[in-house]
Amino acid sequence: MLSNKIISGTQRQIRHGSGIIESNVQLAEQTFRLTLIIEGTLPTINAGQFVMLRLPNRTDPLLGRPFAIYRVSENGHETMLEVIYLTVGKMTERLAGFRSGETLDFWIPLGNGFSPTKAKHLMMVAGGIGQTPFLTFAEKYGRTDSRCTLLYGTRNVDRVICVEDFKKLGVDVHLATDDGSAGYHGSVTDLISNVYQFGESTQILCCGPRPMLYSAFQIARQLNLPCEVSLETSMSCGLGICFGCVVQCRCEKDDKTDSKINNEIDNKMDKENIDYRRTCIDGPVFDAYRLCW
Ligand SMILES: Cc1cc2nc3c(=O)[nH]c(=O)nc-3n(C[C@H](O)[C@H](O)[C@H](O)COP(=O)(O)OP(=O)(O)OC[C@H]3O[C@@H](n4cnc5c(N)ncnc54)[C@H](O)[C@@H]3O)c2cc1C
Ligand code: FES
Repeated sequence: MLSNKIISGTQRQIRHGSGIIESNVQLAEQTFRLTLIIEGTLPTINAGQFVMLRLPNRTDPLLGRPFAIYRVSENGHETMLEVIYLTVGKMTERLAGFRSGETLDFWIPLGNGFSPTKAKHLMMVAGGIGQTPFLTFAEKYGRTDSRCTLLYGTRNVDRVICVEDFKKLGVDVHLATDDGSAGYHGSVTDLISNVYQFGESTQILCCGPRPMLYSAFQIARQLNLPCEVSLETSMSCGLGICFGCVVQCRCEKDDKTDSKINNEIDNKMDKENIDYRRTCIDGPVFDAYRLCW
């Protein structure tokens, strides 16, 4: 019998339990899609929130690891959760060996997610495996009046995955590869200025390696556009307890509970306004103008 608990807070509900692997298939070099079946339904998930997955009944690795929620579907009795992952270390390499019928522990949903937006153009900028938090966002906005674009950069054509999932939602996909084997030859952030239409209200969302996020932010700032970034900071508890995932942010003096300030950079950078935020509960999505890069 699988154990399942709802951990309730004043602001969020998190479900913890075990799910059964339906499939765990290789999509590309070092890249896998995991489908987990979870009994019953999940608390409401905001696009950009994440799941912690832990290998059960073992102490090595002891801790879970955070992954973007790629896709979720429910039929009233059970929920199908999809995660796309790269094998980079201990947990993900072992996870790649898991087969259908085996179980995984999960905590879901965690973190804040992307802010609601009324922008006419939603520009999602992804590097590496950074497209994973955007499918649920595109599901929400891709079929509305908004124009939805995915700028997706990888090392080479062999690493390009899941493009059809986005196209089916009406997302306009632009590829960039480091070696020029597909799409634009160069950095994905170079595409931002090409795709942006001057005067159109545009929201930039980014996920990927930190140098790429910074580069996207620099361009957003030059174009005077709002920009949110989803960080892939290493985590331990994922629940706000250990403070192992803090990042430095620029905060208003009395702003201890966070959320948004105007998208203007304070050039004076008053030291008293620098504070730490936990990526697992205050993030992983941050206003790029607030981060101390
Ligand atoms: C909110 C969030 C969402 C994420 N979503 C996804 C996703 O959808 N798909 C996916 O493949 N990965 C995702 N990640 C990254 C994923 O959590 C790490 O790849 C994973 O923790 C690696 O665990 P491991 O035990 O295999 O590697 P470890 O043995 O822990 O580390 C192996 C090597 O990778 C480095 N490393 C580990 N984690 C990171 C990281 N986050 N950034 C940079 N280097 C790292 C380590 O320094 C080490 O060199 C996400 C991270 C966060 C915070
Ligand atoms: S991972 Fe423990 S506080 Fe964020």
